[in-house]
Amino acid sequence: MTQQRNNFQADPLSVLTDTFGRLHNNLRISITDRCNLRCTYCMPEENVNYLDRAEILSYEEIVKFIRIVSKLGVNKIRLTGGEPLVRQNVHELITQINQIEDVEDLGLTTNGILLESLAEDLYKAGLRRINVSMDTLSEETFKKLTRREGLDKVIAGIKKAQDVGFDPIKINALSIRGITEETLVDLADFSRETGIEVRFIEFMPLDADNEWERDKVFFAAEIIETLSKEIMPLVPVQTEKTSPSTSYEFKDGIGKIGIIASVSRPFCENCNRFRLTADGKLRNCLFSMEETDIKSALRNPQFNEEELLDQIRSSIQSKNAGHAINTAQFIQPDRPMNSIGG
Ligand code: GTP
Ligand code: 5AD
Ligand code: SF4
Repeated sequence: MTQQRNNFQADPLSVLTDTFGRLHNNLRISITDRCNLRCTYCMPEENVNYLDRAEILSYEEIVKFIRIVSKLGVNKIRLTGGEPLVRQNVHELITQINQIEDVEDLGLTTNGILLESLAEDLYKAGLRRINVSMDTLSEETFKKLTRREGLDKVIAGIKKAQDVGFDPIKINALSIRGITEETLVDLADFSRETGIEVRFIEFMPLDADNEWERDKVFFAAEIIETLSKEIMPLVPVQTEKTSPSTSYEFKDGIGKIGIIASVSRPFCENCNRFRLTADGKLRNCLFSMEETDIKSALRNPQFNEEELLDQIRSSIQSKNAGHAINTAQFIQPDRPMNSIGG
């Protein structure tokens, strides 16, 4: 990483700026580490060590935390898991978050299995932005990847979300060599038929089985080349500077493709994200090796807001320039993706 530390331009006490001048206004909250699938790129097949109930932050604690960080300019929240919809009454949490004045943007990332039955309640509670993970349109490949059945449920969930009025809906598809070559064109056609953006995410070394290898990533350049050849040329479209995704449209304007090239083209330089795990640990990066425990502060009967604000600021201050996936020094974090939240 060549990025230089720079002097603060914003008041470091009123906003969350790190030592590289990156403003952190985007908090991803994992509300559970449990999941109803077992994706190979995320969880182990069996012997999953789930957190105990008592270790998990309550909705009240999560809302209390959001109120506090919203005073530091955090206005973008995304709920993740494990699978967030396996936690009871998520719509109640959504209603409460929506009442926090400074939260401007609330989203949720789901695997879609329970979406058909919950979409209406989620929409009524005020959720509008939803990202659904769907790596393939083949039931056989779905079973191989998730070690479970249910592609039909995911597709029904996406349809229901569209009918209910969610906008935007985005599909996330992992880009894995040996899988994506077969599923890429079908998924792009799905985007062309439904108008929903399909984003391909380069497989990252965050799998519980520790089996990631560089050779297993089907890279962004290969995705663009294949789609341009098999369907028609892709044209880049304007994307927000802080988005991890680069978006493209097909030349005829039908269908939208996003690429999250975390391995071949890291977006760390523009990162505005930090994470809260289900058990109340603050992580300043997907790949960080250190965490800040904020659950103890939230649960302390002598709760001191200033102390908690200081803990949050120091966590952001200690953020590194970027991940080291592309270096020999890279060490995979102990926490697999289901307990970080994607
Ligand atoms: P919106 O931009 O609001 O739609 O959300 P999003 O794209 O951040 O949300 P989503 O949960 O769909 O994230 C998509 C994927 O991007 C995640 O699953 C990760 O694989 C990747 N991603 C998200 N945040 C980070 C990050 O901080 N670093 C890296 N390297 N990848 C990330
Ligand atoms: N690399 C990249 N993305 C991953 N996800 C899960 N595991 C990985 C990984 N190893 C993504 C899922 C989902 C999001 C929450 O995290 O596809 O969209
Ligand atoms: Fe569950 Fe998402 Fe992990 Fe798949 S990627 S096992 S759906 S948490």
